[in-house]
Amino acid sequence: MRSSQNALEVDQLTRVFDVSTPWLNRMIERKPKRYLHAVQDVTFIVQKGKCLALVGESGCGKSTVARLVTGLYEPTEGAIVFAPASDGKPMEAQMIFQDPHASLNPRWRVGDIIAEPIREFGLRDSPAAESERVADLLKIVGLSPDDSRRYPHEFSGGQRQRISIARALASEPEFLVCDEPTSALDVSVQAQILNLMRKLQDELGLTYLFISHNLAVVRHMADRIAVMYLGRIVEEADTEALFANPQHPYTKLLLQTIPDVASPNRDRALMGGEPPSPLDPPKGCAFHPRCPLAADICSRDAPKSRERQGGGVVACHMAPL
Ligand SMILES: Nc1ncnc2c1ncn2[C@@H]1O[C@H](COP(=O)(O)OP(=O)(O)OP(=O)(O)O)[C@@H](O)[C@H]1O
Ligand SMILES: [Mg+2]
Repeated sequence: MRSSQNALEVDQLTRVFDVSTPWLNRMIERKPKRYLHAVQDVTFIVQKGKCLALVGESGCGKSTVARLVTGLYEPTEGAIVFAPASDGKPMEAQMIFQDPHASLNPRWRVGDIIAEPIREFGLRDSPAAESERVADLLKIVGLSPDDSRRYPHEFSGGQRQRISIARALASEPEFLVCDEPTSALDVSVQAQILNLMRKLQDELGLTYLFISHNLAVVRHMADRIAVMYLGRIVEEADTEALFANPQHPYTKLLLQTIPDVASPNRDRALMGGEPPSPLDPPKGCAFHPRCPLAADICSRDAPKSRERQGGGVVACHMAPL
């Protein structure tokens, strides 16, 4: 650990997927193996009690980073180091997913869904203490202890996300990885869940890695923001600094395309179409075909990450020096 303030240090993380067709097809069609670089050379730090947001378009590698950090995937290269938790044991990261319907077992009662981690980790020594803990967790997330007898389908999307949060908190984690936790919800419900997550962060001293494709959502959650494009971090800075003075052209475009109800089709046009495929990334800077500032060097050389004016990092030939 570089500093005792850090909860998580991720260093030059890379994850490559083998997406080749089966061996026999490859032999018949004389095709080579194909590799997809979902995450490349990603470096960031999350400080204790803070929230770092990862932002970027669909397919840029956000969920892959989340899965690497929570141990669901092995890194191809690079390091993921958690600080010890306050009890000295290795810090445990819990994940909250986008779709609470898919992550809650529909055949289990809510009480059992939340109690499972408590049992698995042996966190309470009697059934009564366990029920009490489940009731407390339901109250913490704004539900009623009576809800423990009901099934997930009896709840609305927002309430189901509250159940997922209660379950994630059941194992008493200090670190939460939230992968688009509100993207499937109505706007008004989104705000309620975001407020709940902020409140929990303050009250329980949690550290968040918060993933979203929407800069507007992370503005009020995140202390720092890392913007990803095609597997790489292109800019990272304090939230206020990033909004006040974005330096990567992609960040600027993302800021301009914060969803606008009045003209919902505006963003695609501004962005210059879909992002390229990570299977066949453009040479040089991967963003150059869509970049309004692209010069010759951008199609030749990949920009290195360097210190950003006003703090943080930026990877762009054209960003201010
Ligand atoms: N298990 C896998 N096998 C092969 N390719 C994968 C796998 N998981 C992800 N990918 C590819 O890696 C890239 C990044 O995917 P990822 O799910 O991390 O993106 P994302 O930023 O979370 O996108 P979204 O906003 O749509 O959730 C995509 O091109 C995806 O197709
Ligand atoms: Mg994702």
